[in-house]
Amino acid sequence: MRQQILHILLIQVILVESLEGATGYLGENVTLPSNGNSSWRLSKIKWSIFLNSTWIATYQDGKENTNRLPRYKGRLSLNVSTGDLTIHNLTEDDAMEYTVDLINTEKKSIVNKIKLEVTQHLQKPTIKTLFNSSAEEGCWIGLHCISASEDVVFSWHVNSSNVTIFNMSHPQVKPGLHSTFFYKKQIPVQITCISSRNKENTSRVVTPECNDGKPQTQHQVQCRLRCGLCVFLGIFLGVVAVVIIYLCKGERKTSFFLGKFSRLPSLFQRNLS
Ligand SMILES: *[C@@H]1O[C@H](CO)[C@@H](O)[C@H](O)[C@H]1NC(C)=O
Ligand SMILES: *[C@@H]1O[C@H](CO)[C@@H](O)[C@H](O)[C@H]1NC(C)=O
Ligand SMILES: *[C@@H]1O[C@H](CO)[C@@H](O)[C@H](O)[C@H]1NC(C)=O
Repeated sequence: MRQQILHILLIQVILVESLEGATGYLGENVTLPSNGNSSWRLSKIKWSIFLNSTWIATYQDGKENTNRLPRYKGRLSLNVSTGDLTIHNLTEDDAMEYTVDLINTEKKSIVNKIKLEVTQHLQKPTIKTLFNSSAEEGCWIGLHCISASEDVVFSWHVNSSNVTIFNMSHPQVKPGLHSTFFYKKQIPVQITCISSRNKENTSRVVTPECNDGKPQTQHQVQCRLRCGLCVFLGIFLGVVAVVIIYLCKGERKTSFFLGKFSRLPSLFQRNLS
C-alpha cells in the first residue's frame, strides 16, 4: 500500500508538465523559463530538443555544459539557480519546442515544455502622399499608410482639431489604410499613422504644408528665374552700352588729336575727316 502511494506520488510529480509559449525576436536574446519550483535547490538541469531529446544544455554534479550542439555553440547560458535558459542572437531555426528536466537535491523531478516563437520586430510604416491640393479655407490631402510587416492593424492620429479625417476606413489589415484629410491653412499639423501587431506599436509622422497650392509656388520660382534673366540681360546691355560709348568717345578723341597736333598733309586730313 505504502509503495503504491509512493508510486502514485512519483507519477504525479512527473506528470506536472505544461506547454508554455515564449516569443523572441531575431538577433536578440530570449530567456526560456524553466517554471521550476522557486523553493527547490536544483541538482540537475537538462534542456533538450527534438523527439529524441537531444541535450543542448545541462547542469549536473556542479558542472554546466552549454556547448553540446554546434547550432547553439556560444549562444546559450544557463541560470543554475532557477534553471532558466537564455538563448542569445536568435535565429529562425531556434523556433521550436524545448524541454527542461529539473531534479532537486531531494530527487524530486519536474518536466516542462516551452514552445519558442521567433519573430521580427514590427517595421515602421510608410506614408505615401496621394494628393495635396489647396482650397479656399485649407488643404485636402490623401494619405496611404502601408507596412512591410505582416498582419498589421493601422490607425491615424492627428495632433490638432484643425485636421479632419474623412472616409477613414476601419482599422484594416494589409494592404494598409487610405484616408483623406482636410486641414486649415497656416497651422502646423502632424498626421501620424500607427501600425500595431499583438502588443507592439510603431508609427510614422507627416507634417504636410498647406501653401496656396503648389502650382503657384512653381509659378513664383519661374518668375524669379525670369527676373534674374532680366537683370542679367540689363547688366549685359548696360556694359555693352558703356563699351560702345567709350569706344565712340575714344574715336572722337583720336580724330581730334590727329586734327590738332599732327600737321599732316591736307590730303590725309581730308581723307581722315
Ligand atoms: C535526433 O533527432 C534529430 C532531428 O530529428 C537528428 O538530427 C539527430 O541526429 C538525432 N540524434 C540522435 C542521437 O539520434
Ligand atoms: C538567476 O536568476 C535569478 C532570478 O531571476 C537572478 O536573481 C540571478 O541573478 C540569476 N543568476 C544568473 C547567474 O544569471
Ligand atoms: C548573430 O548571428 C548572426 C548570424 O548567425 C551573425 O552574423 C552575428 O555575428 C551574430 N551576432 C552576435 C552578436 O553573435
